[in-house]
Amino acid sequence: MQPEKDISQLSEAEAREELAQLAEVLAQANAAYHTHDAPEMSDADYDRLKRRNTALEAAFPALKRSDSPSDKVGAPVASGFSKIDHVVPMLSLGNAFSDEDVTDFDGRIRSFLGLAADAPLKFTAEPKIDGLSLSLRYEGGKLMQAATRGDGATGENVTANALTMADIPQTLTNAPDVLEVRGEVYMAHSDFDALNVAQEAKGDKTFANPRNAAAGSLRQLDASITKSRPLRFFAYAWGDVSAPLSDTQMGAIERLAELGFVTNELTKLCDGPTEMIAHYRYIEAQRASLGYDIDGVVYKVNELDLQSRLGFRSTTPRWAIAHKFPAELAWTTLEAIDIQVGRTGALSPVARLKPVTVGGVVVSNATLHNEDYIQGFDSKGVEIRGGKDIREGDWVQVYRAGDVIPKVADVDLSKRAADAKPYVFPTTCPECGSDAVREEGDAVRRCTGGMICPAQAIEKLKHFVSRKAFDIEGLGAKQVEMFFDDPDLPVRTPADIFKLEARDAGNLTKLKNRKGWGDQSAANLFAAINEKRKIGFGRALFALGIRHVGEAASNLIANHYGDWDSFEAAVTAAADFEGTEWEDLLAMDGIGDVMARSLVTAFAQDKERAVIDDLVSQLSIQSAEKPKSDGSPVAGKTVVFTGKLEKMTRDEAKARAERLGAKVAGSVSKKTDLLVAGPGAGSKAKKAADLGVETIDEDGWLAMIEGL
Ligand code: IVH
Repeated sequence: MQPEKDISQLSEAEAREELAQLAEVLAQANAAYHTHDAPEMSDADYDRLKRRNTALEAAFPALKRSDSPSDKVGAPVASGFSKIDHVVPMLSLGNAFSDEDVTDFDGRIRSFLGLAADAPLKFTAEPKIDGLSLSLRYEGGKLMQAATRGDGATGENVTANALTMADIPQTLTNAPDVLEVRGEVYMAHSDFDALNVAQEAKGDKTFANPRNAAAGSLRQLDASITKSRPLRFFAYAWGDVSAPLSDTQMGAIERLAELGFVTNELTKLCDGPTEMIAHYRYIEAQRASLGYDIDGVVYKVNELDLQSRLGFRSTTPRWAIAHKFPAELAWTTLEAIDIQVGRTGALSPVARLKPVTVGGVVVSNATLHNEDYIQGFDSKGVEIRGGKDIREGDWVQVYRAGDVIPKVADVDLSKRAADAKPYVFPTTCPECGSDAVREEGDAVRRCTGGMICPAQAIEKLKHFVSRKAFDIEGLGAKQVEMFFDDPDLPVRTPADIFKLEARDAGNLTKLKNRKGWGDQSAANLFAAINEKRKIGFGRALFALGIRHVGEAASNLIANHYGDWDSFEAAVTAAADFEGTEWEDLLAMDGIGDVMARSLVTAFAQDKERAVIDDLVSQLSIQSAEKPKSDGSPVAGKTVVFTGKLEKMTRDEAKARAERLGAKVAGSVSKKTDLLVAGPGAGSKAKKAADLGVETIDEDGWLAMIEGL
């Protein structure tokens, strides 16, 4: 192919000719890669040609071809990394937004551990780096593996790329035999600016911000590209270790620095919230001159044995929190208000904005929450924004906090056009025309169309295939939309996904012969779908998208019931919201009345149940893995705590029991196996005695779990 010409210098005819060539060359490269597993072109060249194609299409939109390479499914770039399971999950952090949230954090920890308000409790405070996290596994002092965070449980293998980074030592001396070092990959401002200048000069894609540039540079299939990019790394945590690094957080960070890692010099040991907040202000004042992006300050309990007693909630540690910097603001015109219909039927108003840059990111859509938010009054008549309503054409303030969806925060009435009309929120669904109603106490208006509403059906399907649900490679939101209206291969319910291959076999025109598909990409899609027939209980339940039943609750339920059949039998039996099964569901810690009703209702409604049963018949749902419970006498048992505990708080006792594989319930029933009763135990102890449930005191409990 000819050397690349500056796109702005191309005539239409030249662009058309080049797009034709690119379509041919890239199609051939795709075939070589997928069909023969023998790429003829390096990933870097492939990426470059693909980018060139995209840039040409952007400059000459009318010339985009019907067989455009940008519409091809199954391109090699997205799927090129192998997967690595994290031995210790890579978690995220809870957030604090105010000084009060920080004192509350300290208070929660004291209450969990049963520490008096004046007992010493130290924390480290350090910048929260705005990059992407990376886990480096060293064995025998040698860097063996580098993995991105991925979904926290499984990441991408980017070892070859990590080996090119100057901040990452390839060998360590005097390190534990197994050591996983975790930290943040980021790009400094100066390096980012220079990279974008160079990219632009080459006619290559520029990056919106340093975080995107760092992510794009690390996740390159061709490690020589990563090597050419100025990536840096701060170490701030660890995963699997064969011997502890220290007995404090600060000590461990110092040890990482001794081992040759770059650690952040603004990391400080603080005596409590007052010092933590002071250090937060100090870091905030330095923010603009640090030379790299940070989005807050992370506080961590310093004593590692306290960290381990505190443990984790489902996705975040109890012993750490991120104190975020305030959000960024900008003003722009609200061009229109659109209504989107979500998977539970919620009508969500979306602001279409004149694009505006907010903290380095171009924002053209923002949420308006619900009809009350637009009106400026909630259902109780309480003012929002001082009672100012929002209208199309208004001059509005847009607010963005980190990766939170931007929202419209305020409106400037002095700039409102005299003829601006109040916004009238629809009372019918814009997608299916069904009534949209607001139930008592619900801030949200919902479409009553249920399964007949295409918007709800599509959103449910998108949720079903999303990363935390079925996560089917090559079947994302875009493909779901495509198949939804497909006359030959319609995907209207989750089960349809698993029937695609069989349906295709019966069709005259096969998927592989369609535009944009080939032998390999069609086979890949079917293989990816089949791979997910075997699925974990928690994931399968979460994927159903039942209102109020989120990821954490789904896993809780999976652990409680163990296998799908028992669960299904129990929720079916609970259909009248009474009886043993209903009480058993409600007794679960973390499952409230609203969630339990929503769950039971989903299984009790004929149409919804048919959709679920149809899906389940296509799957092999794996029973929930019991939490690590080797030798635990309480594994699988239902335990209730009552009365006053003296050696640990109720929260800690509960967390400990759960870690040992027990189910902790809030009330005593026939299903209770063990009651741990401290002084002052009342009705629960009596009920346990009546039911013949084994009852022990706190010392008995501690003796039972000692050493585990
Ligand atoms: S500690 C178990 N420290 O923030 C907690 N995280 O929102 C492990 N991050 O995924 C994380 N700077 O990518 C920690 N100094 C810091 C951090 C930091 C940035 C990122 C990290 C994590 C995310 C959580």
